[in-house]
Amino acid sequence: MRFDVVTLFPEMFSALTRWGVTGRACEQGLSSVNLWNPRDYCSDPRKTVDDRAYGGGPGMVMMAKPLEDTISAVKTAHQVQHIVSGPICLLAPQGEVFSQKIATDILNYGNLTFICGRYEAVDQRFIDRNVDLQLSMGDFVVSGGELPAMTMMDAVIRLIPGALGDGESAVQDSFINGLLDYPHYTRPEIYENLSVPDVLLGGHHAKIADWRRQKSLELTLRLRPDLIKSARANGLLSKEDEQFLRTL
Ligand SMILES: C[S@@+](CC[C@H](N)C(=O)[O-])C[C@H]1O[C@@H](n2cnc3c(N)ncnc32)[C@H](O)[C@@H]1O
Repeated sequence: MRFDVVTLFPEMFSALTRWGVTGRACEQGLSSVNLWNPRDYCSDPRKTVDDRAYGGGPGMVMMAKPLEDTISAVKTAHQVQHIVSGPICLLAPQGEVFSQKIATDILNYGNLTFICGRYEAVDQRFIDRNVDLQLSMGDFVVSGGELPAMTMMDAVIRLIPGALGDGESAVQDSFINGLLDYPHYTRPEIYENLSVPDVLLGGHHAKIADWRRQKSLELTLRLRPDLIKSARANGLLSKEDEQFLRTL
């Protein structure tokens, strides 16, 4: 999976490329993160990337031209490497809220270019001419697109076959099967008078699997009943699941 990221703060991405699961995936060549700073594509000596907003108001607006010149450089790099350019995605509070399903879609594109906004906004003409999709982290505003981009990239990289080491698995993660994950326990068996559920100590694999499925269903029904509805609509619930849900 190739990511190209247009950002005024490329150094921030070492948090993704150097550490943990995502750092290992980059090291192993399962994912690549190519960073593009619009300041490197400015024609003026002061490397101006922003200006005041027409109509007045606080804050600066990212100019269309440096961003568009950066995108041209990304596309040229793709051509040179015989890569068909994937979608161009702007991080924006106005975008579709990111989800596990979108993470899977992005993985299937093979490559994607993120545009990280900063300041008050990005010139609308750049968006109209270049952006294929807009993604949001949720209904709140952060100071730039870098953290949302890194979060989304992490979610995609986890899905690359081989990115998770032995003992780690995306298959049982929340949302993958449409439900929330079940509770987990580790040593000691008793902690502050709280014991690990007996079934997890018995070594009976089928019983453990049933308990985990039921806990997943129970938690999801209690915390996110909307997910139960969509799991049902998508045919992800078995007859046994439905029977169990009726007992709750
Ligand atoms: C300070 S914000 C601008 C917020 C904008 N004035 C608004 O109210 O919608 C600067 C940049 O951070 C990024 N950003 C902020 N919140 C975001 C969110 N919830 N999801 C994705 N990106 C976000 C966007 O790239 C945005 O252009």
